[in-house]
Formats: sequence, structure tokens, C-alpha cells
Amino acid sequence: MCVFFLLEFVVIHNGIITNYKDLRKFLESKGYEFESETDTETIPKLIKYMYDNRESEDTSFSALVERVIQQLEGAFALVFKSIHYPGEAVATRRGSPLLIGVRSKYKLSTEQIPVLYRTCNIENVKNICNSRVKRLDSSTCLHAVGDKAVEFFFASDASAIIEHTNRVIFLEDDDIAAVTDGKLSIHRLERSASDDPSRAIQTLQMELQQIMKGNFSAFMQKEIFEQPESVVNTMRGRVNFESSTVLLGGLKDHLKEIRRCRRLIIIGCGTSYHAAVATRQVLEELTELPVMVELASDFLDRNTPVFRDDVCFFISQSGETADTLMALRYCKEHRALTVGITNTVGSSISRETDCGVHINAGPEIGVASTKAYTSQFVSLVMFGLMMSEDRISLQKRRQEIISGLKSLPEMIKEVLSLDEKIHDLALELYKQRSLLVMGRGYNYATCLEGALKIKEITYMHSEGILAGELKHGPLALIDKQMPVIMVIMKDPCFTKCQNALQQVTARQGRPIILCSKEDTESSKFAYKTIELPHTVDCLQGILSVIPLQLLSFHLAVLRGYDVDFPRNLAKSVTVE
Ligand code: F6R
Repeated sequence: MCVFFLLEFVVIHNGIITNYKDLRKFLESKGYEFESETDTETIPKLIKYMYDNRESEDTSFSALVERVIQQLEGAFALVFKSIHYPGEAVATRRGSPLLIGVRSKYKLSTEQIPVLYRTCNIENVKNICNSRVKRLDSSTCLHAVGDKAVEFFFASDASAIIEHTNRVIFLEDDDIAAVTDGKLSIHRLERSASDDPSRAIQTLQMELQQIMKGNFSAFMQKEIFEQPESVVNTMRGRVNFESSTVLLGGLKDHLKEIRRCRRLIIIGCGTSYHAAVATRQVLEELTELPVMVELASDFLDRNTPVFRDDVCFFISQSGETADTLMALRYCKEHRALTVGITNTVGSSISRETDCGVHINAGPEIGVASTKAYTSQFVSLVMFGLMMSEDRISLQKRRQEIISGLKSLPEMIKEVLSLDEKIHDLALELYKQRSLLVMGRGYNYATCLEGALKIKEITYMHSEGILAGELKHGPLALIDKQMPVIMVIMKDPCFTKCQNALQQVTARQGRPIILCSKEDTESSKFAYKTIELPHTVDCLQGILSVIPLQLLSFHLAVLRGYDVDFPRNLAKSVTVE
């Protein structure tokens, strides 16, 4: 997010302007001087230029903004204010999320705001001219009845405004929303046949208390400790433990089509991608379909072949990640069925997919994703269970997994009770430069996710290593100085993990082992152990990731970093 002031215009910008160098050159040729190298600075200068060159004194603020965004390429959410238009604010978006919070003590004039159009014919910076501006009448605006006060809030994410109001309007790409003397109106940049003719005011179910830190020192810590409840919320009303059935309402109408598909492709970035890696094996087992997991950026770089009988899943906490969103649009172009798995109602991914699952983890504020990961994990497992309901040969396995889901909240609590022990471990490790996290099978994703948590908030180098790859390179890193965390669970990979453990100890490595409580073998070779409750193999990753979430948190605190807002990172990555 960047704010730029130019005496006459103020612009708040979230996103990236890809053609800012061309715009800057154009403006410099008109005598404008720049103070920074940012893309944002071009925007207030461009609007100032438009203002100075307007055809008529009557040109409205929103018409000026329209002209500005017609020159912009990239992704942006923008809010404008100006001394030339007192009492007015104009907001717009393309590619980056933007919503308007609406607060009024009085009845509102409407619950649906009609979208207006006007004619504009500007094509590029060399062809700057004026548009015809249509005046608004009160029937096209939102205001409180009887001209009583109504307040508007602009934000990228609902959690930023929930303390003021739970009533919001989600703007679409190329909407231009203008607040003039307490009245809100919305224009479209261009008319298109598929346009929705109005924007509804929606009521969010989010509670203020859900987004407060409470007794925790950081949102991340609070969110780690919320996991016993957040996984319950993910399963609530969906898993029937009596009848051992699972129903995901958002997918039920598409189930036949999904069962007939050629393959499942699960696409995401960062932690959301790891949730796909974590559940791939159980999805292959329960759906009996080929499952591909893809990093959204790489999937796009490869122009991956996608067919109309593919089913493509888009996993995203925010529902706004640019790469995932672009991969979604790409799959839609190839006519595949698209399924969103998101944590944000009204987000672009949840709106643009054909169907989906809301993971219901509650707002996640800490930049490092924690509870969203475990809820994504549970959601994907629930999908596998729903798909396999009528497979006789899988009934025993389904029953075992459903029982595992039932006891998950209690087991998560048990893992969280290890917090002090993990803090002590962090005290030993926090001055290290590097930390390796090794495992395989169901827990390879745990290693990737644990290493990502460590690197993003502690700024230590950390690598998730597939134990099966040890001899193909990573073994060279092992010596008695290098801290290694090994995830060794009582699952089908146990013996192979023992082998890796021997390789590590034979090189004087001093492994810190995450293992099952009942595992007496691994602890013999461990420098330290963290013992976890044992659950069904395909759910064990939900329990084993939590000590690594806690460890990264304690390491970051001990190293003196801001846990919730790590340097260089944003919660929603709305640019490529
Ligand atoms: C890591 C993290 C990121 C996100 C990634 C995708 O802790 O939070 O790796 O997982 O940027 O974000 P979403 O899930 O919002 O698409």
C-alpha cells in the first residue's frame, strides 16, 4: 500500500502500475518533476495533468478518475481525494481488491446500488480528451433516508473496517465509486453485456472480537491457538459423525461432473499450495483420480494444457492472490470446471469460480498463514470423503479418517500444550543462521510449510527437504553444527524415515525429532524430541505442522522481529 500526496491530489494505491515508466516519460515531457522511483507517484501527477487540461470547469472528480485509469496498466485499487473537490472521494479497482463499508444509524435509501455508465473515448496518453459527464440524480445514489448522515469506508479487506461496520459493497474491476456530499454512486468504465446492473450491500458475519488480539502478543500467535476451534468451524454442518457422511453444500450440485472428470488440478501459492501437497495422496486414494498440484505462477508460465473435462481447484486464504486468480481465469478460458477453496466471502476467487467451499477459519490477520492452512487441509480431506461416499472398498478407510477428524480438536489442544517446550527449543536455536526441516510422505508438506513459516517471519534460511532426496544432495549440508528438524511419524514411511535418521546421525547431525508419543525407536537417536499425539496417517500433518508454527513464532520474537508484519511481505499478494 502506498500513499502519495501532491498538494492538490492525494492517492492511496494498492497494487502495481506496470506502464508507469511510459506515463512518467509522458508527464516529464509536460514539465512534471518526480520525487521518487515509485509507480504510485505517477497517479497523482497524471490526475493533476488531467485536471489542468480538462475541457470544462464542470468536469466531475469521478470523470477525471475515469480518464486516469484508462491510462493505467497493471493491478490497482485506488482512492483519490482533492482540494479541488472538497467533500468528495473517488475509489476504483482493477485486479486488486476494494470494498466499501457503509455505516448509518438510519435506514438507507436502497440495498442495491444501480451501476451507471458514461461515454468516454480515451485510448492512450497521447490521446487525452474529455468525456461527457452525466449528472447523478438521487435515485442513482446510496444515502441515508431523509439526508441523515451515512459514512463510507474504503478498504482492501473487510477486517480493516469491521470495527466500524459489517455492511459492505464489494467493487468489481473498473467500477468507479464516488462519494459526493455523503452520497455514494457507482459508474462502470465500459458497458459490457455480462455486467451486473447493480452492487448489493452485503452483511458480513465477521465479529469484531474475532479480529482482536485478546491476550496474545501477536495475531499469528492467537491464530495458532485458535486452531482447535477453527477446524471445528470448517467441519461444522458438513461432517456428520453419526452417519459418517460429509456434505459440502457448495459442491453438491457439481458432484456428478467432478466424479466423471479426467483429473483434478489443485492450484495455489505459498501455504495454500502446501495444503494441496499435504492432501494430494489422500485425494488420490479417495477419489481414485489423478491429482496434479501446481504453483499458480509456474502453472501459468508453462501454459499447462487444461481440458474441459478437468476440474481445477483454486486454494487461497485471501481469495485475491493475483497468480491464483490468473490461473483461474486461464482454466475458465479452457472451459474446465473451477472450484474455489477460500477463506474470504465475496473475494474475487470465490466469485469467479463455478462452485466452491468456504473454509470458515475466521479472519486471518497475521501475514504468516496458520489456521487457514489447517482449515484448507481439512476442507480438501472433506472433499475426498464426499467423493468416496459410495465406494464400498473405501468404507473402512473413510470411517478411520472421519474418526480422526472427530478427535482432531482435542489433539490440536494437546499439541498446543507443548508451547513451553517449543519455546525452550527456540531459545537454543534462535541465533542460528539456518534450519533444515526433513520428512517424507504425508509429512513432506509439513516440512515445506514449516520451513516457509521459519523463513518468512524469522528471516533465517530454512529449507523443507524430502527425506527421499537426502542422498541426492542435501546430505552434504549435514554436520554437527547444522540444526535439522526431522518429522518422523508412525505411518507407511516410518522405516524409510529411520533410514534417513541414520544417515543424519552417521554424519554427526544432531536431529530434533517430531515423532509420535508411542515411538521409542526414533527418540534413541534424537538430540531432542517433540512428541505428538498419534492420529490417522493422512491427518497427522495437521498436528505435526503446529509445533513448527509455534517454533517460527518464538524464533521471530526472540530475534526481535514483528511477527505479524514481516518485512517485504503482504497478506494479500494482489500483484504477479
Ligand atoms: C505464508 C503465506 C503465503 C500465502 C500465499 C497465498 O505464510 O501466507 O505464502 O499462503 O501468498 O495466499 P492466499 O492463500 O491468500 O492465496
